[in-house]
Amino acid sequence: MQKSKQLTTEDIQNILKGINYPGFSRDIVSFGMVKSISLTETGADLTLHINTENAETLNQLESTIREKLSSAGIASINLNITKPAAQPAQQQAVQPKPIPQVKHVIAIASGKGGVGKSTVSINIAAALSKKYKTGILDLDIYGPSLPMLVGDTRQPDMTSDKKLVPLEKFNMQLMSFGFINNENAPAVWRGPMVSRMTQQFFEDVEWGELDYLILDLPPGTGDIQLTLVQKLALTGAVMVTTPQELALLDVKKGADMFAKVNTPVLGVIENMTHYLCPHCHETSRIFPGSGGAEESKRLEVPLLGHVYLSPELAQSADSGTPYVLKYEESPITAEFHKIAEELVNLAEA
Ligand SMILES: Nc1ncnc2c1ncn2[C@@H]1O[C@H](COP(=O)(O)OP(=O)(O)OP(=O)(O)O)[C@@H](O)[C@H]1O
Ligand SMILES: [Mg+2]
Repeated sequence: MQKSKQLTTEDIQNILKGINYPGFSRDIVSFGMVKSISLTETGADLTLHINTENAETLNQLESTIREKLSSAGIASINLNITKPAAQPAQQQAVQPKPIPQVKHVIAIASGKGGVGKSTVSINIAAALSKKYKTGILDLDIYGPSLPMLVGDTRQPDMTSDKKLVPLEKFNMQLMSFGFINNENAPAVWRGPMVSRMTQQFFEDVEWGELDYLILDLPPGTGDIQLTLVQKLALTGAVMVTTPQELALLDVKKGADMFAKVNTPVLGVIENMTHYLCPHCHETSRIFPGSGGAEESKRLEVPLLGHVYLSPELAQSADSGTPYVLKYEESPITAEFHKIAEELVNLAEA
């Protein structure tokens, strides 16, 4: 019998990296589906965690894996495909739902607060809005940012069937908890209540036809994020990080959460990397470490871009006009357009 001792587990992992999950442009290793690889006398034992009931997908995947490994000279392959253990909140067997008439939903997430998710979300949305029908949904119930970012606090209208109509400004559809009068809300919301509110909220908005809906998530990997990633059919997620080690550690948790529910992390954006001097246009690095570059390598997802630390970017948050629309010719605007284009490519792939 043919032996395959010359191959290492790393070689096998590299072969698996060349196999995309059916219907996706991402491979099964970067999805986090490959749980173990071990060598045996005559071949290899593989364990994969795959969260699907679709027999056709499983068959297709299994035959691709067998074909690729046997053509690399592995004689016997013991393939063990299991479903990942259900997370506590997954036990109600929720099926992710698409939002009617919305083609792509992209969540902007981070493990840690204050890394620039809202800033990145509004500017990516503004960049997308130049070419696509775009909406942005601010899901931070405790500290909504959108009203300030777009300088608008109008109450949304209701349709006759009690759906919220997004505000329209800067050629974007906008919705935030901050547009709804929350005066009677209790000061401290409990996790499950916030989850329910959030879910209700995104089901009750009449978006109309959209190419892209950007979700500005609250920071962290708690109830709200879990509710969202389980219940909404997301095209993918983008993780925002700063180069500091703490932000990086936290971002890993978020990325792992998306992996559990088979939502691809489309890429990482490193924010506040360099300081761009507004006078001489020289850049200098503020924080030590390799930041997003390192994280992107670990997750095996693209680093979508770097956003410099910029006083104008911070000021534009207070001024109510997205930076990308206010400083159309700046390098940071060019970077946001590059990131938006990259996201479009990934979403359409
Ligand atoms: N590249 C940047 N340059 C300068 N200031 C920035 C940059 N990115 C974000 N900021 C500022 O940092 C602060 C936090 O940003 P932002 O509100 O976007 O973070 P967040 O991750 O959404 O926070 P939260 O976790 O509270 O939702 C804001 O005052 C914002 O204007
Ligand atoms: Mg925010």
